[in-house]
Amino acid sequence: MHFPIIFGLSAALPLIVASPVQFPLPDGFPNPSADQVVAIQQKAGGSLPGGPLPASLQPNGVTALKLIALNEIFEVAYFTSLLYNITHEVAGYGPDVYKPVLKQFLVDTFTAVVNQEELHAVATNAALKNAGQTQIQPCKFQFPVTDFDAAIALAATFTDVVFATVPQAQAIFTADGGDESGLVPLFSSVIGQEGEQNGVYRSLQKKVPSSAPFLTGGAPDFAFTALQGFILPNSCPQPLSDIPLKTFGKLDVVSTPEAKNSTIEFAVPAGPSIDVSANAIVYLSGQNLPLTVPISDITYANGEAHFKAAFPFEAGFAKGLTIAALVKGTGNFKTAGEVVKVAVNGPGLIEVG
Ligand SMILES: *[C@@H]1O[C@H](CO)[C@@H](O)[C@H](O)[C@H]1NC(C)=O
Ligand SMILES: *[C@@H]1O[C@H](CO)[C@@H](O)[C@H](O)[C@H]1NC(C)=O
Repeated sequence: MHFPIIFGLSAALPLIVASPVQFPLPDGFPNPSADQVVAIQQKAGGSLPGGPLPASLQPNGVTALKLIALNEIFEVAYFTSLLYNITHEVAGYGPDVYKPVLKQFLVDTFTAVVNQEELHAVATNAALKNAGQTQIQPCKFQFPVTDFDAAIALAATFTDVVFATVPQAQAIFTADGGDESGLVPLFSSVIGQEGEQNGVYRSLQKKVPSSAPFLTGGAPDFAFTALQGFILPNSCPQPLSDIPLKTFGKLDVVSTPEAKNSTIEFAVPAGPSIDVSANAIVYLSGQNLPLTVPISDITYANGEAHFKAAFPFEAGFAKGLTIAALVKGTGNFKTAGEVVKVAVNGPGLIEVG
C-alpha cells in the first residue's frame, strides 16, 4: 500500500483545524510520572503488567521489542489525532459522517484505545529498559487520511499488520529461550486486546467483526517497512538503523482487490529491472503456506513499473489482510522468513471482505 504524504490543508479551510500530535503528550507519555501512570491506567481500564520483566534479552528479542515499541508509539500518535478530530468535529470527522453511530461511543472508544496503546508502549519500553537496552522515543508521524471512513479503514489495516507481526516476535522470544519466554503470554494479551479493537474498526465499516478463522501471518521486516511510511523522514531521535530489520521498496496495489479469483495490477518505483522469468509475486494469507504466482504485462511509465499477477483468492485466502511481496526468484517458499530473504518490494497490503 502506498501512503501518500499529505501536504497542507484543502482550499476550503475548515473552522477547526487538527492539531498535530506533539510529544510528550499532556498526560506525560512517553515518560509519564507515577501519578500520570495512575491516570492513564484509569482511562485504559486496567493497569500495567505486574510480573517480573526479563533481566536479559537476546539480540533478536531486543529488535522485536524495539519494533513493537515504535509501532505502539505510532498507534498512540494516530489514535490521539483521531480522538482529537472526532472530539472537535474537524471537517470529515463530524457526526454527519458517521451517523447513526453516537459521538460519545466513539469518544469513549478512542479514549480507551489511546490510553491502552500508551500502556502497551510503556510496558514494551519498560521491558527494554529492565534488560539494559535503549528505549524507543517518539518520531514525528504523518497520517495519509483526512476523513473518518479512511481513518477507520487504515486503523484496521495497520492493526492487521500487528496481528501478522507480534506472533513472529513471540516465536523469537520462545526460540531465544531463557528469560524471554515470559513475554509470550504478555504479548498474547496485547494481540487479543487489539483484536477487540479491530472488531470495532471492522464493524464501523459494516464488515463482519471477525474476518477469518486464522489471521494472516507476516514478518517483522514487512511491518518495519510499512511503519516507515508513517514516519517523517529523519524525525526519529534514534537512527532507524537501531532496529536492524530490512526495508523493502514500495509495492503499490493499483487495482481494487476483490474476494474472488481475479487479477491485480501492481506498481513499483522503476529501479533494477524486473522480469517475468526472474521475479514473482508471493502472497501471505491466513496461516497458509506462502503462495507464489507469476507476473506478466510489465510496462514502464512515469518512473514506475506496472505489472499484473493473479490474485487466487478462492484458493483458500483469508478475508481481511493479505500481504503481497515482489520477490527475486519464482520458487515455492515455505515460510514468511524465506519470502523476506528474497523480497525486493513489499508489503503490498490487500484488504478484502
Ligand atoms: C485528523 O485530521 C487532520 C486534518 O484533516 C488530518 O490531517 C489527520 O490525518 C487526521 N488524523 C487521523 C488519525 O485521521
Ligand atoms: C481459483 O484459483 C485457484 C488457483 O488457481 C484454483 O485452484 C481454483 O479452482 C479457482 N477457483 C475458482 C472458483 O475459479
